[in-house]
Amino acid sequence: MTCQTYSFFVLSIVMIYFGRFGNSLILAQLQNDIDQLKADFNSSHSDVADGGPIFTDKLANWTERNEKRIILSQIVSMYLEMLNNTDKSKAHVRHISEELYTLKNSIGDGSKKVEDMMYLAKLQMSDLKIQRKAVNELFNVLHKLLETPTSTKRKRSQSQRRCRC
Ligand SMILES: *[C@@H]1O[C@H](CO)[C@@H](O)[C@H](O)[C@H]1NC(C)=O
Ligand SMILES: *[C@@H]1O[C@H](CO)[C@@H](O)[C@H](O)[C@H]1NC(C)=O
Ligand SMILES: *[C@@H]1O[C@H](CO)[C@@H](O)[C@H](O)[C@H]1NC(C)=O
Repeated sequence: MTCQTYSFFVLSIVMIYFGRFGNSLILAQLQNDIDQLKADFNSSHSDVADGGPIFTDKLANWTERNEKRIILSQIVSMYLEMLNNTDKSKAHVRHISEELYTLKNSIGDGSKKVEDMMYLAKLQMSDLKIQRKAVNELFNVLHKLLETPTSTKRKRSQSQRRCRC
């Protein structure tokens, strides 16, 4: 319960991240709804801070816009799952759910990437057939991994050298 109540404490911070690429007006409108939700869950009580935050710490190193969409998409799904089990007769619960659902759809690309991660997490690497496929794809994976801006630069300097010849 402490975990659940604490997550509301950080909901507003998550919404601020969304505010950067969504409509910051939404945030102002939701403030009151979130306050009511905090009251429902006693989320302003001091014990909520025990053990530190559950989401906000994890967000610290996700700085690039497209990266952030991936982790936020997952976090929003978790809020939606939680709110789905919360009393939906309350207007503020419905309102927050609707806004989160809209925001989640607006970062559809992030959701697809989360699905990719989920798919990978479920792959049975102990399965011989999977292992054979993995080995078959290893070179391509490494090629993708080493395909960095540095190698692009190297290619460019190589072609420059070729030009001078
Ligand atoms: C909130 O606190 C009140 C009073 O301490 C308590 O009766 C209620 O069960 C608490 N609700 C939650 C969700 O923790
Ligand atoms: C963020 O990255 C820094 C440097 O890699 C690391 O020391 C720190 O533990 C990371 N923070 C989190 C919350 O993962
Ligand atoms: C919400 O709950 C219903 C019924 O328990 C379920 O069918 C639905 O998939 C849930 N939706 C989400 C977003 O978790």
